[in-house]
Amino acid sequence: MCGIVGGVTNQNITPLLLEGLKQLEYRGYDSSGLLVLSNNNSFLRARSVGKVHNLEKNLNTRKKRIKGNIGIAHTRWATHGEPSNRNAHPHISNNTVGVVHNGIIENYLELKESQSKQGYKFTSDTDTEVIAHAIEFNMQSSNTFLESVQKAINSFEGAYGLGIISSKHPDTIIAARKGSPLVIGVGKYGNYIASDQIALLPITRKFIFLEEGDIAELKLEKITIYNQNGNKVNRPIKTSKIKEGQVDLGVHKHFMQKEIFEQPQAIRDTLESRITKESVVVSAFGYKASEVFKNVKQVQIIACGTSFNAGLVAKYWLEDIAKIPCNVEIASEYRYRNPIILDRTLFVTISQSGETADTLQALKTAKEINNKIDTLCICNSAESSITRESEFTFLTHAGPEIGVASTKAFTTQLVALALLTCSIGVSKKNINKQNEKSIVDGLKRLPGLINETLLQESQIKKLAVRFKDKNSALFLGRGTMHAIAMEGALKLKEISYIHAEAYPAGELKHGPIALIDESMPVIAIAPNDELLSKLKSNLQEVKTRGSQMIVFEDKESKVKSMKAMKIISITSNLGRITAPIIFTIPLQLLSYHVALIKNTDVDKPRNLAKSVTVE
Ligand code: AGP
Repeated sequence: MCGIVGGVTNQNITPLLLEGLKQLEYRGYDSSGLLVLSNNNSFLRARSVGKVHNLEKNLNTRKKRIKGNIGIAHTRWATHGEPSNRNAHPHISNNTVGVVHNGIIENYLELKESQSKQGYKFTSDTDTEVIAHAIEFNMQSSNTFLESVQKAINSFEGAYGLGIISSKHPDTIIAARKGSPLVIGVGKYGNYIASDQIALLPITRKFIFLEEGDIAELKLEKITIYNQNGNKVNRPIKTSKIKEGQVDLGVHKHFMQKEIFEQPQAIRDTLESRITKESVVVSAFGYKASEVFKNVKQVQIIACGTSFNAGLVAKYWLEDIAKIPCNVEIASEYRYRNPIILDRTLFVTISQSGETADTLQALKTAKEINNKIDTLCICNSAESSITRESEFTFLTHAGPEIGVASTKAFTTQLVALALLTCSIGVSKKNINKQNEKSIVDGLKRLPGLINETLLQESQIKKLAVRFKDKNSALFLGRGTMHAIAMEGALKLKEISYIHAEAYPAGELKHGPIALIDESMPVIAIAPNDELLSKLKSNLQEVKTRGSQMIVFEDKESKVKSMKAMKIISITSNLGRITAPIIFTIPLQLLSYHVALIKNTDVDKPRNLAKSVTVE
């Protein structure tokens, strides 16, 4: 979640660190800092709260310039300890070891206690400071810098991407990763590290991607990498084709397709540092989130379009799992209807762009009506009007979404909302340890499950032909799958221009069943849940009206095959949280392939804009 950059070079490292931090700003930050080893081997550190720009100002106004050939830098998003100068990275131990860290050291309290007994004085509230002290402590009994890091790392539980320098070893940076990404940049004038290659693109195109458990020793002209068993390994140098500030299609035909296939990684990125082995990191929603969540009485969600559909799924989760009342409303309605907003409401906006005019205005209106409410936005854009207007921000790390039809933004919003559900439930003691662990386990399975589901693309592509001459389609689901059906219908409308409607399957008899005949394909989502038998009866009702049907089911759902019905078994053992996310994937693929057949402008469908900044 935080950003790391560092390097050893024959030039002044400070401008490179600053530029790298700016490139990482898209991931969100509340403070930043850098540490450089001066030419007389002493540490020079600068830290500032707020934007990287503040750090730059801080550097420019110093009498003594921060200059040197080796350094590390960091953008922080507070989880352990408030956003402040003292908590900003890099952290230093005994003027000897400096560390930047991405991730969470889960056993930091234990380590802190024993290090305090060893005489270490703590100057921050972070989990990171124990890393610096552990390395410093191990230096006393180690022959090399590397050995002291290896020994220290053995005492850490949790996840880390680390950049470490030492005043005793002025020619070396050590990088280590477990659970958090870290890449090495191989440059003409030195070698570098970063949590995302984007930070190093202004300097190099050559990258080495560290693997889980790797530790690397970087010197000016040499990089040595050790695997988690301490054996020297060769990792290939890859040349990146990413252009600075530009997102390209890669092997894909359209951005929408690319973004559908990016979902496993987008979800991994969104989960990074937000979960531990068995729990959610409540403070990922903000330093004071736990206190707010404990006291909150109800949740009001506001959004538009796809983001609204994500909110509808969350209503089921929040009430069912976290046991808190939740309302979801379209922003353009909410902003004009003088709503009653009770005290202790958590007002949640969901927006990919963070610029949607109706959502922004609904948020402003809500704050005017009741200025005591707490506001949280779930957003994919760190620097946006809605994040600026909100007290808490949770960034989905979906990466840039170019296709107008939202795909990876939606599934990462669902992941964020699952984390919110769990965080509120845990804070209110409505979710016990065991349930929390099972939610976390489910979230960890998501990237693999999505990859499995994406393998069905060729089957789904064949089905798309059925929509060639159709003018309408009906999507059916029950529970959270009604919201997923709405998202499926929205996708089909947006990019194939086929009229599509979604209905809760139980509502069929109350009207829409009159529409059903051979010309109206029906798409049903049939997870193996407590509503399955009811859904199966609804499918019978549809079938007798002669419709062509497509059913996406769980392998255990065992929907009975009928004439003109195509059943696609997606995957198995889905839970309340994983099922809606996984069943979204085939619907995205279906719309995409129907749009290809219809030969529409998939990434820029007619009449639509990616970000609706006007009413
Ligand atoms: C989704 O495919 C659409 N492009 C649209 O409904 C979108 O979700 C809506 O305009 C809201 O945008 P936001 O998430 O950026 O606020």
